[in-house]
Amino acid sequence: MRHLLTTDGLDLADATAVLDTADELKRTLLGREVRKLPTLRGRTVITMFYESSTRTRVSFELAGKWMSADVVNVSAGGSSVGKGESLRDTALTLAAAGADCVIVRHPASGAAHRLAGWLAEAGTSVVNAGDGTHQHPTQALLDAATLRERLGDLAGRRIAIVGDVLHSRVARSNVHLLATLGAEVVLVAPPTLLPAGVAGWPVTVSHELDAELPAVDAVMMLRVQAERMHGSYFPSAREYSISYGLSEARLRLLPEHAVVLHPGPMLRGMEIASAVADAPQAAITEQVRNGVHVRMAVLYHLLAGEEEGRGS
Ligand code: CP
Repeated sequence: MRHLLTTDGLDLADATAVLDTADELKRTLLGREVRKLPTLRGRTVITMFYESSTRTRVSFELAGKWMSADVVNVSAGGSSVGKGESLRDTALTLAAAGADCVIVRHPASGAAHRLAGWLAEAGTSVVNAGDGTHQHPTQALLDAATLRERLGDLAGRRIAIVGDVLHSRVARSNVHLLATLGAEVVLVAPPTLLPAGVAGWPVTVSHELDAELPAVDAVMMLRVQAERMHGSYFPSAREYSISYGLSEARLRLLPEHAVVLHPGPMLRGMEIASAVADAPQAAITEQVRNGVHVRMAVLYHLLAGEEEGRGS
């Protein structure tokens, strides 16, 4: 793997290799007092976050540090971006300073692809940590890792992705990855929060959450992305919640084995009832925990090379 920009770029073998590596790293680190492997010693990882983040940023930083890479964090606010420096010049500057891998989050869809093009000559790997409404591949990988832990093989499993699909890079990345892993995806959303091109996606579409819940193995609730909305997509937060929120009553419609996911940050009380977010069926904390191991696995596949061991 040279870059990780989208989940469409991952075939079944690539995706399974990353997920298996994440499992192995998790097992290796389990119960250790010192979570440190030598695998990426001498490698430099730079994160560039042009949008706010808690989970993705922290877990990439930990992933690099737990593998002994040198990790540097750059945010738009504290960098020369504030003086008007372009994304291209910022990226070339970080590559010149010695970055082996740049991890980028940016509000513009396609920003990570552009970066990969600009950094081709430098040989720097690029990881997309979320670009606009386009893709968030490591989120989909950590979701798949969490679902595999709870459900086993995902082939033939039915997963509902619920809510603001229109603005969700998490939904787009999950649709492709889950299809690659052999799962069936049903998107459940109001017509106003579905993209125009959804007919070409490997999914079925429903507007009725209650009708879908009894037949799914997992339900992935999406954040309503008010910051990307320039208009009115539903009458009110209360009406959205009545139709598409995962309430305690709806939790009871799910099969006993079903898993509840949310990528975070959650709007408790709107997308998901607080009691549901904290229920045993919810794997939201596990998603965050698995995010570190998945991001370690991604860095390993990008930077360690086939000949390297995973450390001991
Ligand atoms: N899920 C996710 O990307 O969360 P952050 O925005 O906190 O990184």
